[in-house]
Amino acid sequence: MDIRFLLNGESVELKDVAPTVTLLDWLRETRGLTGTKEGCNEGDCGACTVMVTDDHGARALNACILFLPQLHGRAVRTVEGIAGPGGALHPVQEAMIDHHGSQCGFCTPGFVVSMAVAHLNGDRGHDDALAGNLCRCTGYAPIVRAAEAATEAPVPDWMRDDLSQLTDPLSEPGETGPFAPRDTDDLARLYARHPEATLVAGATDVGLWVTKGLRDLGTVIFLNRCTDLQEITTEEDRIRFGAGVTMDRVLDRVRESHPAYAEMIRRYGSAQVRAAATIGGNIANGSPIGDNPPALIAMGATLRLRAGDAVREMPLEEFFISYGKQDRARGEFVLDVSIPANAPDLRVYKLSKRFDQDISAVCGAFSITREEGRVTDARVAFGGMAGVPKRSPAVEAALIGADWSEKGIAPALEAFEADFDPLSDMRASAEYRLDAARGMLRRCLAETTGAAISVLEVSP
Ligand SMILES: Cc1cc2nc3c(=O)[nH]c(=O)nc-3n(C[C@H](O)[C@H](O)[C@H](O)COP(=O)(O)OP(=O)(O)OC[C@H]3O[C@@H](n4cnc5c(N)ncnc54)[C@H](O)[C@@H]3O)c2cc1C
Ligand code: FES
Ligand code: FES
Repeated sequence: MDIRFLLNGESVELKDVAPTVTLLDWLRETRGLTGTKEGCNEGDCGACTVMVTDDHGARALNACILFLPQLHGRAVRTVEGIAGPGGALHPVQEAMIDHHGSQCGFCTPGFVVSMAVAHLNGDRGHDDALAGNLCRCTGYAPIVRAAEAATEAPVPDWMRDDLSQLTDPLSEPGETGPFAPRDTDDLARLYARHPEATLVAGATDVGLWVTKGLRDLGTVIFLNRCTDLQEITTEEDRIRFGAGVTMDRVLDRVRESHPAYAEMIRRYGSAQVRAAATIGGNIANGSPIGDNPPALIAMGATLRLRAGDAVREMPLEEFFISYGKQDRARGEFVLDVSIPANAPDLRVYKLSKRFDQDISAVCGAFSITREEGRVTDARVAFGGMAGVPKRSPAVEAALIGADWSEKGIAPALEAFEADFDPLSDMRASAEYRLDAARGMLRRCLAETTGAAISVLEVSP
């Protein structure tokens, strides 16, 4: 596959690019751009952060789990391109010096790129913007002070990439790809012809199969050029997210309308992960600890799948059959997922050992409707409690008709064992998971009846 992209403002054209060469390896080994560091090689540390610009704007991404073909038609800026052409420092670099934001310096290029992206986008949520960058020696206070200090400085001219310089040199793929379809019709045709192919959306899961699992992906179909898979459409009383919508765009869309879902997404990976990870990839991989499914199931989401010209729709919970098995035929792909336009009753609780950038031990979601203190409807779903993301029929049955009070929910707390027989693993024991899930229901009660429940809201 031939690709063309901007690298630090200059057009680069590459011929016959292999599907699984990562941007990080290519930058360091082929271009000698060693400012971009390799720390974990699995999207966790941010040492490899680069800025990538496309039609959706400029975002920080982890180069270690970004395959070269995903860059076609986009602009990449590495730390070497954050300083000006004559060596003039970017305001965030000046501020890092002024505020002593670097000691050993290994993490610094990644921080500088994340800070420059936030600066360009006028994003002042520095804690969230930097949660995907790990620093082991300086400590975060001086770094965050530097980010704050740079906010008022104007954006340097050289930071604005001009994508119009890129014409489209994509060659016709051979019989075995890699393929990069332009729309879902094209994708449906290709996938029907190559049902054995690996679909790659954001590569935040698939990237690790390569960098950690050393897997050969065989025929690859990249989804990131399928623009109609990235649409967010608002229908009468529902919002439909194309499978290729990234989690940062989901977050922007649901911030006002679904605040509890939005708060969970704020803790989904990091800025770099959310800018790559798609909602469709998270559903399709069927992980029992994926964070979207419990929230979406509790909201009453429906999923659409497409194979060839045939589209079918199902309640999301029916997609997850058993561990590692989803209701998806060969050659069928996730098209989109739709949720109600608002979810005022929704509560979502993500429990993990760390606040930021951590996989959930348990993720619980509750949509509980009440009238005059009595529960009239309940949809309750969990991740981390079974081999699949799962609804809780016994808990729901015990809630419907009950008083919304400690006494009223007591039978529902008893019902958890009928719904779940969780595993013990390195994240949590089975007993802990059951206790935590019960605690989440009690927390939902406390929160919706006016008690202060967040440890982040400690008041004197
Ligand atoms: C550092 C890090 C932190 C993470 N944190 C979280 C977290 O907090 N919560 C969480 O839930 N997950 C987390 N993840 C996991 C991952 O980000 C999500 O599962 C993500 O949403 C996957 O989307 P993707 O677009 O990257 O999928 P990809 O990696 O591209 O694909 C994942 C799977 O889905 C398939 N696929 C993709 N799109 C489609 C489609 N349209 N139709 C059919 N199949 C498709 C692929 O073939 C593959 O099997 C994290 C990952 C990393 C590396
Ligand atoms: S090397 Fe750690 S996120 Fe890429
Ligand atoms: S300065 Fe050493 S890891 Fe951050």
